[in-house]
Amino acid sequence: MKIIKSIKLLRKEIASLRKKGKTVGFIPTMGYFHEGHLSLMRQSVKENDVSVVSLFVNPVQFGPKEDLSRYPRDMKRDASLAAGAGVDILFAPSVAEMYPSELLTHVHVDALSDGLCGAFRSGHFSGVVTVVAKLVNIVLPDVMYLGQKDAQQAVVIKKMIKDLDFALRVKVCPTLREPDGLAMSSRNIFLSPTERKEAAALSKSLRLARQKILKGESDASKIVSQIKKLILDETSASILYVVCVSVADLKPVRRIEKDVLLALAVKFPSARLIDNEIVTIKKRC
Ligand code: PAF
Repeated sequence: MKIIKSIKLLRKEIASLRKKGKTVGFIPTMGYFHEGHLSLMRQSVKENDVSVVSLFVNPVQFGPKEDLSRYPRDMKRDASLAAGAGVDILFAPSVAEMYPSELLTHVHVDALSDGLCGAFRSGHFSGVVTVVAKLVNIVLPDVMYLGQKDAQQAVVIKKMIKDLDFALRVKVCPTLREPDGLAMSSRNIFLSPTERKEAAALSKSLRLARQKILKGESDASKIVSQIKKLILDETSASILYVVCVSVADLKPVRRIEKDVLLALAVKFPSARLIDNEIVTIKKRC
């Protein structure tokens, strides 16, 4: 696996691969890899001639009071994991390489960026889509792989790709979970042992909600209340939001008649966690 830190060198490498007719899969990441990242890498390796992973903790998507400085980093370990997953190129630029001068251009996806996490993280999704637009312009992939764990991020990025006519496909791959159901996340490392145990309640609440919907409950407010109750009963976390929204446009749903996204964010003293579940509705008679 090649580790490339310069945009110029990466462009040269990609151009030469393109000349040889190679297809390129791309996984944007902020590093500190877990099985969720590795599953995206393996999927890309299976489906493309060449797989490129970017490792860049993007300062532009962190708010002033967020965890940029303590975001976990371990380049050596990440490089060895990516190589083991069959990745061909690890693109690991510095902040100065990505943002050599004051950034005056921002990409913003209206409406979809405002609710859910966007309501608590002002400017976050603008930072995400801006860096993804830059990365896609640098890597020029055929396919980009994203995780369903960051459901809103995937919806926002897909809309940006569509609206701005970027020539690539986006594949959203399933969330990987720990044996007790906790969605894998680089931030799980911050949880205290007690918080880590309690955090299993997040996926449990979503699983139970899903079962209720599939058994016929169609009142979204009841589902949301049940999820909140279970989290409050079983954890010390405070709830930032629990929503039942349309999968396509993230708009709140009152009656569950089509596929919905159940999404939540909570704040433990040590870390902020998100999780979600898509519930597919078969036509009810
Ligand atoms: O999901 C992430 O790790 C980041 O938001 C992304 C997509 C790599 C952009 O910095």
